[in-house]
Amino acid sequence: MAYKKILVPLDGSSFSKRAVDGAIKVAKTDHASIILLGVVEIPPAAFEGYTEFAVNIEANEELKKKLSRSLNEEADKLRAKGLSVAVIVKEGLPIEEIDATVESEGVDLIVMTTHGRRGFSRFLLGSVAEKVVRTASCSVLIVRPTAPELKVLEGNG
Ligand SMILES: Nc1ncnc2c1ncn2[C@@H]1O[C@H](COP(=O)(O)OP(=O)(O)O)[C@@H](O)[C@H]1O
Ligand SMILES: [Mg+2]
Repeated sequence: MAYKKILVPLDGSSFSKRAVDGAIKVAKTDHASIILLGVVEIPPAAFEGYTEFAVNIEANEELKKKLSRSLNEEADKLRAKGLSVAVIVKEGLPIEEIDATVESEGVDLIVMTTHGRRGFSRFLLGSVAEKVVRTASCSVLIVRPTAPELKVLEGNG
C-alpha cells in the first residue's frame, strides 16, 4: 500500500515545520505529492456574531500574506528536491479546514507535529494535533519535534 497525497498542516511556527522532513521521507518512498496547508485562525466566537470578537479584516489579510509567504518558501525547497507540492491558505478553524482539505483533496496521510505555535506544555499533544488524531478520516503521522530520528534525517536531503 502506498500513500498518494500527504497533507502537512503548518501554523507558521518552526515547530510545525519539523513535520516536513517526515513528509519528504514518505513522499519519496511512495511517490506521493504533498499539500502544505496554513489556516489563519478566526476565533469561534466571531462565527457567532459577537461584535467584541469582530474579525479585523486588515490584520487577517496581513497574517494570510505572511503565512502564504512562509508556506511558499517551504514549497520551493521541496520542489527543488523534485517533489510535487501544492500550497493552500485558508481562514477559519484549523481542525475544520484540515478535515475539509482531507475530503476535497483526497488526502490519505496527514503528517504533523505534536505541538505548534504555543509550544510544549504539560499536554502530550496540542489541541489541534489532538483533534486531528481523534477525528481524522485518514491515517496520521505525529512527529515529536525532539525525536532523535529527526537528527538522522537532517542533511539527508
Ligand atoms: N492555524 C493552523 N494552520 C495549520 N495547521 C495548524 C494550525 N494550528 C495548528 N496546526 C497544526 O497542528 C500542529 C500542532 O499545533 P497545536 O495542536 O495547535 O499545538 P500548540 O498548542 O503547540 O499550538 C501544528 O504543528 C500544525 O501541524
Ligand atoms: Mg496551536
